[in-house]
Amino acid sequence: MDSLLTEIDHVAIAVYDLEAAIAWYAEVFGADVVHREIVASDGVEEALIRVADSYVQLLTPTREDSPVGKYLAAKGEGLHHVAYRVVDCAVALAAVKASGARVIDDAPRPGSRNTTVAFIHPKASFSTLIELVQEN
Ligand code: CO
Repeated sequence: MDSLLTEIDHVAIAVYDLEAAIAWYAEVFGADVVHREIVASDGVEEALIRVADSYVQLLTPTREDSPVGKYLAAKGEGLHHVAYRVVDCAVALAAVKASGARVIDDAPRPGSRNTTVAFIHPKASFSTLIELVQEN
């Protein structure tokens, strides 16, 4: 069987201060932000830095009770999730569910950049929060 995962879409890093993180990537690596977006439904603001065909996604909460806000309060800054690109998010999510793994999103939903996404519960995946990303 061919892998359902086609690329790393992004590696997400939770930070307290988005501007400081953006400035650090620019200063240290000369890396520029190619996209910024507030995802109100998730309570986050993101800044994407392109690395080849993938991104580093710097994430900061827009409210304390958002999932990323709670994550920062509990664990502090650092790696938050890994996002794999898939051709069809619904097909990939169905395969995950068929395997018996626990999911966070029961159905695909809109992500940033006009993508379709679904999260797999970290309990199912060796304590790594995984996001499936379909580009539309
Ligand atoms: Co993500």
